[in-house]
Amino acid sequence: MAASPGLEPLVVSSRQGPYELRFVADAGAELAASLAGTHLLVDRRVAQAHPKKLAVALAYPSVLLIDATEDAKSLERMPAYVGHLLSKGVRRGQTLTAVGGGIVQDIACFLAATLLRGIDWRFAPTTLLAMSDSAIGSKSSINCGGAKNILGTFTPPKAIWTDLSFLDTLDEKDVRSGIGEMLKVHAIEGPEAFDRIAVAYASLAADRAALARFLRDSLEYKKKLVEADEFDRGPRLVMNYGHSFGHAIEAATAFVVPHGIAVTIGMDLANFAAARLGLGRAEHYRRMRPALAANWRGFESTCVPLEPFLAALGKDKKNTATKLGLILPGPDGRIRRFEVANDDAFRAACAEYLAKGRREVLA
Ligand SMILES: NC(=O)c1ccc[n+]([C@@H]2O[C@H](COP(=O)([O-])OP(=O)(O)OC[C@H]3O[C@@H](n4cnc5c(N)ncnc54)[C@H](O)[C@@H]3O)[C@@H](O)[C@H]2O)c1
Ligand SMILES: [Zn+2]
Repeated sequence: MAASPGLEPLVVSSRQGPYELRFVADAGAELAASLAGTHLLVDRRVAQAHPKKLAVALAYPSVLLIDATEDAKSLERMPAYVGHLLSKGVRRGQTLTAVGGGIVQDIACFLAATLLRGIDWRFAPTTLLAMSDSAIGSKSSINCGGAKNILGTFTPPKAIWTDLSFLDTLDEKDVRSGIGEMLKVHAIEGPEAFDRIAVAYASLAADRAALARFLRDSLEYKKKLVEADEFDRGPRLVMNYGHSFGHAIEAATAFVVPHGIAVTIGMDLANFAAARLGLGRAEHYRRMRPALAANWRGFESTCVPLEPFLAALGKDKKNTATKLGLILPGPDGRIRRFEVANDDAFRAACAEYLAKGRREVLA
């Protein structure tokens, strides 16, 4: 079996037992060694970009190539996937294997949770976001009727093979999307952890070893929260830092902003809103801003229209009947959940922020 490139494996405890994420030098070899009884769901771009690595897997009889778009992970598309798997004779005791980013992962995880009342699945993540964040944590998130991530399950994989060489072909904006989630989990770990990754920011895209270390740390920080609260009832909710705002930015811009970059802007807006509403401090907003601004490069002039943004924010899963459930920094810079009135003061803060584009709002 291919050797791991020197990063410790990570074992995550879940209600369905432990599962292991291993760093491998050749995910193709891992896949080739475990093809019996599996059905592969593979991101089409990854298949095209890594034909040699994936040659054995792609020659297997049950392979479905998927174009990784938000539409592809909608409930409306599921019948086509189920039809394909049935035509390949899928049955209990078999597995699904996903090779791709968060989109292919969400499809495979959701199908594995529901098909035949549940079969096992495994994952070879190919984006930085999937490697550093979504691969662990058990969640599937599926779109329906135009609502993003509105359906889902908690279904841990049986195994994860992380092969960092997939990153060689990832677009730069998708690298920064993954870095956005890494910045997020470091901020949640605490201001000290955020400062560590912020100082190293410039080296992340250029130095694979530095990126790998921060990626491994990101998983370790997320693992603590996932193990404390696998089903997202309490402590894990902080993982949504930047996400209520980020999802609203994605929705209001028709998904032109990649997820982790929308989350990066969402964290800045969360820091700003906390300061404006007197829940957090302007100093925290200023401290995080340089690293966040470096990470949303290329999206400085993307306009986020206020009304669609506020409409999407009002539909967030974390809201209560009367309040917005927002994850914001408190006065000590630590990230926690607040219930915030969706009132004129809040809307004025959002309007002020969005009107400035990505320019600094609190001097
Ligand atoms: N279930 C979860 O826990 C969870 C967590 C975070 C995000 N998500 C979801 O994940 C999705 C975003 O996933 P993502 O950012 O990983 O990317 P993605 O799956 O959307 O892929 C982004 C782009 O990169 C391409 N790609 C993937 N791997 C590549 C590679 N190695 N080389 C070249 N191109 C490659 C894809 O074809 C696509 O064009 C969103 O739908 C988000 O909601 C789910
Ligand atoms: Zn996310």
